[in-house]
Amino acid sequence: MNQNQFDNKAQAWSALFSEPMSALVQRYTTSVRFDQRLAQADIEGSLAHAEMLHAQGLIGAPDWAAIQRGMAQIKAEIEAGTFVWQDALEDVHLNLEARLTALVGDAGKRLHTGRSRNDQVATDVRLWLRGEIDAIAELLRQMQRALVDLAAQHTETVMPGFTHLQVAQPVSFAHHLLAYVEMFARDGERLADVRKRVNRLPLGAAALAGTSYPLDRARVARTLGFEGLCQNSLDAVSDRDFAIEFSAFAALVMVHVSRLAEEIVLWMSQPFGFIDLADRYCTGSSIMPQKRNPDVAELARGKSGRVVGHLMGLITLMKGQPLAYNKDNQEDKEPLFDTVDTVKDTLRILAEMAGGIRVKAPAMRAAAQRGYATATDLADYLVKKGLPFRDAHEVVAHAVKQALGRGVDLSELPLAELKALHPLIGDDAPGVLTLDGSLAARDLVGGTAPAQARAQIARHRERLG
Ligand code: ARG
Repeated sequence: MNQNQFDNKAQAWSALFSEPMSALVQRYTTSVRFDQRLAQADIEGSLAHAEMLHAQGLIGAPDWAAIQRGMAQIKAEIEAGTFVWQDALEDVHLNLEARLTALVGDAGKRLHTGRSRNDQVATDVRLWLRGEIDAIAELLRQMQRALVDLAAQHTETVMPGFTHLQVAQPVSFAHHLLAYVEMFARDGERLADVRKRVNRLPLGAAALAGTSYPLDRARVARTLGFEGLCQNSLDAVSDRDFAIEFSAFAALVMVHVSRLAEEIVLWMSQPFGFIDLADRYCTGSSIMPQKRNPDVAELARGKSGRVVGHLMGLITLMKGQPLAYNKDNQEDKEPLFDTVDTVKDTLRILAEMAGGIRVKAPAMRAAAQRGYATATDLADYLVKKGLPFRDAHEVVAHAVKQALGRGVDLSELPLAELKALHPLIGDDAPGVLTLDGSLAARDLVGGTAPAQARAQIARHRERLG
């Protein structure tokens, strides 16, 4: 750090400062190493502000032209990687403004008329996040499409449905996958709702109280595609609810991802053996030659932790902040950026990985068979013949006990033995004990019957386009 840079920094404030910032304070307070990511949003916001200043007669046409010219060059420098970011200039906003002034002189100094970094940064984060929200919404749809495509191949593939991770009733693999599609669909709804509140314009709030210049806030909002204006200047500069809400959305998506990842890990383990994953999503072991590990799924599960953590970080950041802007809010960026990166990468890779799942249908079916998954069907059969459900439950418990004793499935019990359990058990009883019969019987909206899964798949395809 040379003295020159400190002088720059002192100038960014005012002549009031008589001594340079210490190196430690500078390192502690600077954000440019991470917030330079907001550069494009910052330029977009500045151009919209300057255009409005010009339209309102607050800056002249030559200034407006110079600002456009300067910003175009800065944009090109950033894209080319030649822009020189200076820690001493603290953040992305001051870096860009200093460069603009170096390029175009006084016009650069007029840009900040009626604006503060407080409303500027709030605007930038919202603009940037809005773009990321749109990208994530599309990735969420891709994730759902991948699961729906896999489900479409497995509407009749029987697997055990579990409760307490104990075999409960047969379901189709399609039905199981479609449960995740429902979760991701709700995540999409939540994201669309968050977007509405992200998409409001803070500019015009200035430092905290609004400004005495006759700004046209609605014009800036229109230029930037914001749906509305933040209606209270104090709130506009201090509110980070939108980031917290987004993080809550992200935490929930990652929890859903984590559950799916956990199932993939389980299904691929030898005791389950329900699926295999394409080699490109697995890694080997440096010591055990036989190993193929589902690292991608494990990492997806693991990364949910950091996203949930960021939600805690952001919400705690806000707690206890008096109105209006406080420097604490500079701490919103790293967790938010990491959340976006993690969610995008994870959705992208899982959607891709879903295409690499090879289903071992016979193993799934055998597991359902072993678990007496059709016991409920036998009880339902008796109920339909007039036996109260609790009594039917008891009769079937005896049937399971006998089958366990013989080491066979319910469907393999000799008919005579079944019939001996209760007079209402007739020759047609074995029919309800098959896995496919059990599946097909649950033919109501939300049920696991193949016909229902096909209807759901059609609905999702229509919705996802
Ligand atoms: N880098 C700051 C942030 O991220 C920009 C706003 C600073 N405003 C101020 N008055 N110090 O929040």
